Amino acid sequence: MSTLLGRRVLLRPLTRSDFGEWREVRRRNRARLKEWEPQALPGRPDSAEDPRAFADRCSARRRERQHGTGYGFGVFVNGCFRGEMNLSSIQRGPFQSCYVGYWIDEAVAGNGYTPEALVVAARFAFEELKLHRLQVAIVPRNSASLRVVGKLGLRYEGLAERYVEINGVWEDHHRFAITEEEWRVRAPELVEAWIAPALDGHAGRPVSELVPGRTENQG
Ligand SMILES: CC(C)(COP(=O)(O)OP(=O)(O)OC[C@H]1O[C@@H](n2cnc3c(N)ncnc32)[C@H](O)[C@@H]1OP(=O)(O)O)[C@@H](O)C(=O)NCCC(=O)NCCS
Repeated sequence: MSTLLGRRVLLRPLTRSDFGEWREVRRRNRARLKEWEPQALPGRPDSAEDPRAFADRCSARRRERQHGTGYGFGVFVNGCFRGEMNLSSIQRGPFQSCYVGYWIDEAVAGNGYTPEALVVAARFAFEELKLHRLQVAIVPRNSASLRVVGKLGLRYEGLAERYVEINGVWEDHHRFAITEEEWRVRAPELVEAWIAPALDGHAGRPVSELVPGRTENQG
């Protein structure tokens, strides 16, 4: 389960050996991502600058996977780290739900990699984790992210006021969701449109060919 394949994207947990690429991409996107992410806690080491902080982040994500509370994936395109697709706040019991968060390197934005990765993550959430609900919350002025859920036709559920702290402000968020019942109906169309192997795509090739030397559960 550690590596998931789309048509062009590969999703796998980040490991400490990804630090170099992580640092390069996060440094380049720092100012842009600050606008859409929770504020860094004061005094906390920056995972883009401190390899130990990045390793701690990877370990925390690994523990979440082990406990089944979250599944964080790096998004790779042509073997290069380009962003993240994270299933978080997984609640079992009567909810069986998760949130999804994502970002992509500005250098490759606009190529549809995020909607593709989101369909890959949704398939994993519904078909492997057996969750019932997947949710995305988006700040109303984030037109690029609204386009992502728009392309996939996620159902709009309304505005949650002062919902999440983003860059130090309690921001309103538009909420979108898809449930397992909807996924069952829409999966063939979404998989065909975003994941099904293209002639020049890598889907279907063994993971070992795509990530040479990569072993699972590296921390
Ligand atoms: C939101 C985001 C993940 C979209 O990823 P993506 O892989 O570029 O998604 P898409 O290729 O489907 O593009 C979505 C929209 O982004 C906009 N876009 C296109 N090219 C772009 C570029 N070079 N740079 C920025 N945005 C661009 C377009 O409006 C596009 O819609 P269109 O395809 O109808 O033209 C990405 O813009 C991002 O990382 N934003 C910053 C972090 C963020 O907002 N995360 C989501 C929080 S809810």
